[in-house]
Amino acid sequence: MSHQLLKGKRGIIFGALDEKSIAWKTAQVCHAEGAVFTLTNAPIALRMGAINQLAEECGGAKVIPADVTSEEDLNKLIAESMEVLGGKLDFVLHSVGMSLNVRKKNPYTDLNYDFMHKTLDISAISFHRLMQLLMKQDAMNEWGSIVALTYIAAQRVFPDYNEMAEAKALLESFARSFGYHYGKSKKVRVNTISQSPTRTTAGSGVGGFDAFYNYADTMSPLGNASGESCADYIASLFSDYTRMVTMQNLFHDGGFSFTGISGDTMQMFADKGEG
Ligand SMILES: NC(=O)c1ccc[n+]([C@@H]2O[C@H](COP(=O)([O-])OP(=O)(O)OC[C@H]3O[C@@H](n4cnc5c(N)ncnc54)[C@H](O)[C@@H]3O)[C@@H](O)[C@H]2O)c1
Repeated sequence: MSHQLLKGKRGIIFGALDEKSIAWKTAQVCHAEGAVFTLTNAPIALRMGAINQLAEECGGAKVIPADVTSEEDLNKLIAESMEVLGGKLDFVLHSVGMSLNVRKKNPYTDLNYDFMHKTLDISAISFHRLMQLLMKQDAMNEWGSIVALTYIAAQRVFPDYNEMAEAKALLESFARSFGYHYGKSKKVRVNTISQSPTRTTAGSGVGGFDAFYNYADTMSPLGNASGESCADYIASLFSDYTRMVTMQNLFHDGGFSFTGISGDTMQMFADKGEG
């Protein structure tokens, strides 16, 4: 279903770990829509090797290692991407998240603060760092588009999402604040997409993921948004059809965020009587 929506556009896609990754699916859509891009991930993630298969599928895209906590890595990535792609960038996808406390199963009321610093650095501060370095290298074309992925736990409490809730709140705030500065100086737009629970490595790492997933699916009039549909939405934000959208947190969740209760959920409680 290609419309060559991104023909002539150049970009960088962060975070394609395996074929379940939202970034992986986004790379496939961007390629089908005519874009050229580099792929990047943390050096340790690249050792798994799966990304080379994606790179090949995407017309021999160059894979460049970069840990998002390293300014040096990011600077090299940006410079090399412009070089191999032949000019400034039109889009960047930040699809990166990791919580050490979640990984170690530390409860929210007993967190390790060294881990928390690392979580915030990888999952949120990296977004500011990336945009600051893009701006310093003057790497984005006017009307370029930068997107990061987030989750509704930034606004509402989902207890098992743990410290990632704070990481996402910070990420969304960076999109607003940096979006202002990048819009003013270079007409670059910055948005976050708040995606439904999706079965990926990062997603499934959150405690009680199946319950999260099924609850959201039951509550959303359209059901959960898939990784594939998220990739389509991201491509639309990279396209020229969304040029005036910036500094937004955009819910891509089948209607979950604005549903009070669904008929199916009502049904589950109907048998409880009047109490
Ligand atoms: N899966 C979900 O349910 C869901 C829902 C909403 C938002 N999100 C967000 O979507 C984004 C992508 O996650 P995903 O679900 O596709 O899972 P994923 O595990 O496939 O992707 C996460 C990526 O982050 C990368 N990463 C971790 N540390 C890094 C570092 N130091 N430097 C560079 N890269 C690093 C990983 O290697 C991996 O590729 C994340 O921001 C996640 O929080 C996911």
